[in-house]
Amino acid sequence: MVQIFLDTANIDEIREAASWGVLDGVTTNPTLVAKTGRKWADVVQDILALVDGPISLEVTSTQADEMIKEGRKLAKLHKNVVVKIQMTTEGLKAIKVLSKEGIRVNTTLVFSANQAILAAKAGAKYVSPFIGRLDDQGQEGMQVIREIVTIFGNYDWDCEVLVASVRHPLHVIEAAKLGADIVTVPFDVLKKMAGHTLTDVGLKRFLDDWQKVPK
Ligand code: E4P
Repeated sequence: MVQIFLDTANIDEIREAASWGVLDGVTTNPTLVAKTGRKWADVVQDILALVDGPISLEVTSTQADEMIKEGRKLAKLHKNVVVKIQMTTEGLKAIKVLSKEGIRVNTTLVFSANQAILAAKAGAKYVSPFIGRLDDQGQEGMQVIREIVTIFGNYDWDCEVLVASVRHPLHVIEAAKLGADIVTVPFDVLKKMAGHTLTDVGLKRFLDDWQKVPK
């Protein structure tokens, strides 16, 4: 079954989604944490307390040695922490070392199947292709997912495809149809997935008719 992660650092959104019983994990990045206006450590502590699943926390260094140190620190915080490393050649060096130590790495800022191949070969547990940002610049993001799912399937690689930069519910359906392992969605996309106007209309009619039933 496709796993659903929430792409947010907003605790209220995470708490609400978790209460629906549909939340498998959380992805964060510096932009999402900055949006909360809260201290990074407080945000992380709250997320770790709320969700028992993979929680991606991103390193902010750009040199392999520093990324490795930062990654080790992050991984020590909790067993659920997945270290998010940027898809650069320095990032690949860090992925190699951290994954050999048994630390799960999510490779972020992936925009091509070739980048995904290299990240998986270096030992990443997840690759995160950013489909919305590709769509935004006129390149079909879902095509990259199609290629990566096919390639990983050809070789039975133990690296999961985590579809990121999701903009709307159709992205989720297409990714699941392709057999992507995980889709990380903003909370507004999750809400749209849950709703349908015909559900609202149908519910209203049931409730109105219930008033007409003699009691
Ligand atoms: C998730 O891991 C990414 O950080 C996120 O999906 C990026 O999404 P954006 O393109 O909406 O910023």
